[in-house]
Amino acid sequence: MRPSVLVTKRIYPEGVELLRKHFDVDYEATDDGLPREELLRRAHGKQAIVSHLTDKLDGAMLDSLEGLRVIANVAVGFDNIDVAAATRHGILVTNTPGVLTETTADLAFALLMSAARRIVEADKFLHSGFWKCWTIDLMAGHDIYDRTLGIFGMGRIGQAVARRGRGFSMRVLYHDSVRASEELERELSLEYVDSDRLLRESDFVSLHVPLTAETRGLIGKRELELMKPNAILINTARGPVVDEAALAEALHEKRIAAAGLDVFEREPHVNPLLLDLDNVVLTPHIASASVATRRRMSVMAAEDVVAALAGERPPHLVNTKLWR
Ligand code: GLV
Repeated sequence: MRPSVLVTKRIYPEGVELLRKHFDVDYEATDDGLPREELLRRAHGKQAIVSHLTDKLDGAMLDSLEGLRVIANVAVGFDNIDVAAATRHGILVTNTPGVLTETTADLAFALLMSAARRIVEADKFLHSGFWKCWTIDLMAGHDIYDRTLGIFGMGRIGQAVARRGRGFSMRVLYHDSVRASEELERELSLEYVDSDRLLRESDFVSLHVPLTAETRGLIGKRELELMKPNAILINTARGPVVDEAALAEALHEKRIAAAGLDVFEREPHVNPLLLDLDNVVLTPHIASASVATRRRMSVMAAEDVVAALAGERPPHLVNTKLWR
């Protein structure tokens, strides 16, 4: 009997085709995702789940899924999965690192540039027919070139953003729980600083940390108060890394200049105050959304399932301690 796999919402067809070559596939070919009860019901008896960041695979759910051998998350982040519980049950967890690094860094920089140069606001202004004449300060924004970029999290995506910053002759500060190697600091001209100094000195603060117990609420009222009045905050990491209500208030009161946000605390809900502000650019969690990258992520997840169910080490294993 062929193993069976649940795919919890639509992925690119190449991923499904690969799965179908090897397995019986229960494919939820919609974009809505499965409510918890249905997810649980359909996951029963499956050997693999291809999941999304919108699926909450918590301890209670994993406790009840006997026979499950692998969860392949179509995302680099895996905070939607209780990895400790999966490991306890011997369930392999995989993600899609690497392929989305540059695509995500591109969006972080696009948000940075849009917020600094008021591109979305200017576009809406023009589309609405409000442009009557050239004036000296029409849509005047903030320079990027030669300014200071502060990066939280110097992993793959943080490094890709630092490279973009260097391309704009920016001074790049960073903070991380683990300091980068000397070679990397030299190559990217990075300065390692504590988080308060990063917040005090940066004109742009960009977040590239995973969501963990330590990073939840990393940027709250106190941190926003440390930032410069001209500072711009970019979040393409995870919504709960920022206290969204505190940020909305800081932007409303112009205590910082602007923000660019791709992720939110309770997606798809967005704090209504943010929706009314001009000094924030909002995108719906699309940082890795180029066609090529999302297609590749779909195939990578399928490849991980194929490897895992063939008894091989999946190429993008998260809980590596299951493979010794
Ligand atoms: C997207 O947010 C991802 O983690 O890949």
